[in-house]
Amino acid sequence: MPKKKEDKKEDKGGGTLYVGIDFGTSRTCISASNGVRTFIDTVVGYPKDMIAAKFLGKEILFGEDALKNKLALTLYRPLEEGVIKTTPKDKEAARELIKYCMEIAKDKKEYDKIFAIIGAPAQTDHVNKQALQEVADGIVDATMVVSEPFTVAYSVDALNNSMIVDIGAGTVDLCRMHGTFPDESDELSSDLAGDYIDDQILDLVSKRYKGAQITKNQVQDWKEKYAFVGSAKEPVTVELHLDGKLNVCDITPEMGKACESIVPPIVDKVHQLIASFDPEFQEDLRQNIVVAGGGSQIAGLSEFMETLLDEKGGGRVTVADDPLYAGSEGALKLAQEMPAEYWTQL
Ligand SMILES: Nc1ncnc2c1ncn2[C@@H]1O[C@H](COP(=O)(O)OP(=O)(O)OP(=O)(O)O)[C@@H](O)[C@H]1O
Ligand SMILES: [Mg+2]
Repeated sequence: MPKKKEDKKEDKGGGTLYVGIDFGTSRTCISASNGVRTFIDTVVGYPKDMIAAKFLGKEILFGEDALKNKLALTLYRPLEEGVIKTTPKDKEAARELIKYCMEIAKDKKEYDKIFAIIGAPAQTDHVNKQALQEVADGIVDATMVVSEPFTVAYSVDALNNSMIVDIGAGTVDLCRMHGTFPDESDELSSDLAGDYIDDQILDLVSKRYKGAQITKNQVQDWKEKYAFVGSAKEPVTVELHLDGKLNVCDITPEMGKACESIVPPIVDKVHQLIASFDPEFQEDLRQNIVVAGGGSQIAGLSEFMETLLDEKGGGRVTVADDPLYAGSEGALKLAQEMPAEYWTQL
């Protein structure tokens, strides 16, 4: 597991540990006040039978460890399109995963108190946040579930007249900030996100190269290396198995088209949130759009969004400096800055 600890004075624990978690469909990022900063794949595995349990020597596996041993496990991905699945087993998996995140955050030390904020995808009905809150209750001294784009806003100090667009695997979450806690009317969500791009690439490349054997993992790797919108800086070529042979194939137009497919719906939602904002502040909001999440790393994204926004009154789009950890870092910062009374009330 890629675990990175920032250099700190010898920390033996004690006192209060604050934890920020970005609970995502594909990965969960953890930032803690003791300097722990890491992520795990959002997946939980239980051994399929007694033999699997014996050779693995564990009753439950998480993240990469679970993926490496997937043939011997029943895997659970507790979030789907940003929503927690409601089967008891998925809820249990989610709870175990959050517990495991707290163990990672503690880094083998003991603390008097642990306070955690969990960022969850923005959901207009709030049912999801409540479900997650129930899953998280009682794991540590206090947990609070807040909307994920809000934690991003907190980390980049974009709390007033700004718009966060968090492009994840399952969902794109948008949140409008106006100097207070955002409410449901400030949030919109779309399920055309990273996973959807993967499906599009798979579909388009399979149509162009008939008979090619392509897996979902391959497609995701290509996207994470070569994703772009607008004009390609250089051709995108990949190796494809065709008729039992490896061939180098160009997939430039397919990559561009698949990545572009999610942008118009995002821009429509950005526009919707601008148009329904207090008219006095619409211009400020327009000039302050911040994209984050794994999908914000698509090359050319901010320029492409700005071009589409030009037809809707314009806008300025920037990519967050730390797009992958912005959510968990913001949740941590919020946890640290929240007054003590808040925590005792919870
Ligand atoms: N360089 C990249 N270019 C394009 N997409 C990328 C890149 N790196 C990661 N991604 C994609 O970003 C998505 C993961 O982003 P992130 O970790 O923010 O999602 P998540 O928080 O797990 O999901 P969600 O927010 O939907 O619950 C995946 O679809 C991944 O393939
Ligand atoms: Mg996310």
